Amino acid sequence: MKLYMISLGPGDFELVTIKALKALQNCDAICIPTKSSDNSFAKSMTYKIVKELMDEYDFSKEIIPMYTPMKFKVDDWQRQVDIIKEGFSKHETLCFVTLGDSAVYSSVYYLLDLLKLQDKDIYDNCEVVPGITSFSHASAKVKKPLCVGDSGLEIIPLLDYETPKTKVYMRPKIGMDTRSIQDEGDFYTFENLNFKDEKALDYKKQTVEKYMTLFIDFFE
Ligand SMILES: C[S@@+](CC[C@H](N)C(=O)[O-])C[C@H]1O[C@@H](n2cnc3c(N)ncnc32)[C@H](O)[C@@H]1O
Repeated sequence: MKLYMISLGPGDFELVTIKALKALQNCDAICIPTKSSDNSFAKSMTYKIVKELMDEYDFSKEIIPMYTPMKFKVDDWQRQVDIIKEGFSKHETLCFVTLGDSAVYSSVYYLLDLLKLQDKDIYDNCEVVPGITSFSHASAKVKKPLCVGDSGLEIIPLLDYETPKTKVYMRPKIGMDTRSIQDEGDFYTFENLNFKDEKALDYKKQTVEKYMTLFIDFFE
């Protein structure tokens, strides 16, 4: 059993990662959200990307529609989780697809939160495949960096109340003492990701040893 949560990027099928493409090519069925209650994909950007990939790379998969009314109700996430669970009665490998990157305002984590409670087996056999965000794409389009030199980056939900924030700390100096970095949420240290000695530590490392270190204080 394997569940892939696939980030499809900002809408251009050529901005899908090779990892995402391979997962889609090798799975048994693809769960695609749709805002249409009749399960049509007429207005679905996610479906369009998947279809373009299937045409371009000459493969075909069963499509499992998932009605997603975008009302942020638990019942709606539950219906989708039930469809995934049901999918595993027939299939060994499933993909669920989302636009942009799954780390940024995606339904992926509503589904995973429920799966973690309800079906540990599926949760433990799930892999999240990251993708290109809408704002990375927007930045590239106008050739403007999101941050460079000593500037930072803020992602602000347009709401009229205060919300918890994830903080990403980058570009530390080797030997730096991390005591001055606030630890307010669920703090992780990531070192040399994708190098052979990569580390993902669920705490704040006291001293920076590698330039390729980033810290994330995930909101709680
Ligand atoms: C639910 S969030 C999903 C974000 C997505 N996961 C990402 O990585 O960009 C949807 C919001 O992302 C932004 N967005 C996503 N796709 C966009 C696009 N094609 N053009 C402009 N903004 C977009 C808009 O602010 C939109 O309200």
